[in-house]
Amino acid sequence: MAFPTETVYGLGADAFNADAVRRVYAAKGRPADNPSIVHIARASDLGLLTPRVAPDVVRLADAFWPGPLTMIVEKRAEVPDVTTGGLPSVGVRLPDSEIARALIRAAGTPVAAPSANPSGRPSPTTAEHVLADFGVGGPGKPGPYGGKGKPGQSGVDAILAGPDCRIGIESTVVDMTVTPPQVLRPGFVTAYEIACVLGDAENAKPDDDGAPKSPGMKYRHYAPEAEMVVIEGPRAKVESEIARLKSLNEGIGRRVGVLLFEESDYVTAAHEFYARLRALDASGADLILAGALAAADGAAGGLGFAVMNRMMRAAGHNIVQV
Ligand code: TXA
Ligand code: MG
Repeated sequence: MAFPTETVYGLGADAFNADAVRRVYAAKGRPADNPSIVHIARASDLGLLTPRVAPDVVRLADAFWPGPLTMIVEKRAEVPDVTTGGLPSVGVRLPDSEIARALIRAAGTPVAAPSANPSGRPSPTTAEHVLADFGVGGPGKPGPYGGKGKPGQSGVDAILAGPDCRIGIESTVVDMTVTPPQVLRPGFVTAYEIACVLGDAENAKPDDDGAPKSPGMKYRHYAPEAEMVVIEGPRAKVESEIARLKSLNEGIGRRVGVLLFEESDYVTAAHEFYARLRALDASGADLILAGALAAADGAAGGLGFAVMNRMMRAAGHNIVQV
């Protein structure tokens, strides 16, 4: 079943039921080595998934849960391999969304849920996005991406249609099995904020040398159907380069879409990023020209960094510097 969270919609299954989790992977066309995030409704349920809850895990849970932070911890043997992509660890998140927590409580079990999009595609931030991608009603009703050319690919059983997702990009993933904890995927909760809570702010830096740190980060991801190019530099130059490339490409008959946010309004950029990519695809664009956000450090800049991480990967690191 698909359900809303404050970040993006998830496609959920009982985390302890290997068959149910396998069906989620099949519907998404997700590689088996890419682990799912397991969602809980109260922090004390961490103990169902991990044998040891370290003091730093408690500190981050107190500071950021419920909320958009996923912590990687050692897994219990009871958590099936399919849920964790064969890893000895499990990613756990307590979402802020009331509806998500009500669903998890009603399920009576931790809920494994990757984002509710076909693997590699933009994440869904509205119920309509999930419906468009998968269709509802089980096998035989694939949406435009759901089929991906594979016969028999299933639609989802049901969509719990709630509000649009408040944040709009996926949770921060932090690996608590290493010292110091390492951010594997940037998000709304920043590396800087995490370091502050753990008393290590002087060593905090956004960590992105391009190497894939978590299994999900090695795949081309978040990608629209259209070719996408990111234009990076001072805003005035970015805007004139976008105008130049737009008319150049339209001159040869290509349909060009533009993705440009206020360069420091990271909150809006995060909230709208996936919906805008989807709308540009739906408009039939062949090429998307995206303006990079302004770089900024510290807690506030971290969200811009998280959006840029998605933008660069959606564009397959296709960048023009101006
Ligand atoms: O905001 C979110 O996190 C959303 C909502 C539904 O909660 N979920 C989400 O799930 O984005 P998904 O599957 O699209 O992304 C999970 C990420 C992947 O990059 C995966 O590799 C990483 O978390 N991950 C999960 N468990 C892990 C583990 N044990 N070790 C390393 N990385 C892990
Ligand atoms: Mg995802």
